[in-house]
Amino acid sequence: MNNILRSVLMRRSTYQFDSRPIRDEELMDILEEGKLLSNAENNDAWHFTVLQNRALLTRLSDAHEKLIAREHEGLKKDSASGGAGSRMFLDVPMLLIISGRKDVKYAEDAANMVFGSMMLVAEKYGIGVCWLNSAPELFSTEDGRKVLEQMGIPVDYLPLCVGAFGYKRSAGLPDILTLGDNIINIVK
Ligand SMILES: Cc1cc2nc3c(=O)[nH]c(=O)nc-3n(C[C@H](O)[C@H](O)[C@H](O)COP(=O)(O)O)c2cc1C
Repeated sequence: MNNILRSVLMRRSTYQFDSRPIRDEELMDILEEGKLLSNAENNDAWHFTVLQNRALLTRLSDAHEKLIAREHEGLKKDSASGGAGSRMFLDVPMLLIISGRKDVKYAEDAANMVFGSMMLVAEKYGIGVCWLNSAPELFSTEDGRKVLEQMGIPVDYLPLCVGAFGYKRSAGLPDILTLGDNIINIVK
């Protein structure tokens, strides 16, 4: 198996991060690779925001706790639906936000594709990633919006994909998971 294929198949979500900041040259490599990826019309369909400011991350974490508490009233905070993401904003060294142009129909599909590839590039530096699908919703709350305003995302762009990035705390071998055969239909 070649190294690229190995990364694609073996990569797993990371929930526990080392507190070390990500090295600038590794971050730039991940961002440059993201810029190189195909965006269908070569039209700046997306915009990258790298958030490493501890005060803003803490404010996002507080806003996220509030959101989860509201959504899962009466449930334990770390239930499957809240996930590791409920504390994620507090512990991570960095968030990557991919925003898409509001007037580009396929921006969300493109952002997802770019995000997936950037997660694989991060892997080569031992940088783990957890996709945070509740983050775009978080940014639509009042508290989240106030933090978002500090990030300089251009007005005609919307945050679509958010991921927590950081060096993995443990380098243990990932579990190999396979899904059931019933998720495949071949129509000839
Ligand atoms: C589109 C997407 C969104 C996700 N959102 C979250 C999230 O909000 N919080 C979280 O803790 N994990 C999130 N995850 C990670 C999943 O929980 C994880 O992929 C799943 O448990 C399978 O584990 P694996 O990625 O290690 O194979 C997300 C994963 C994907 C692909």
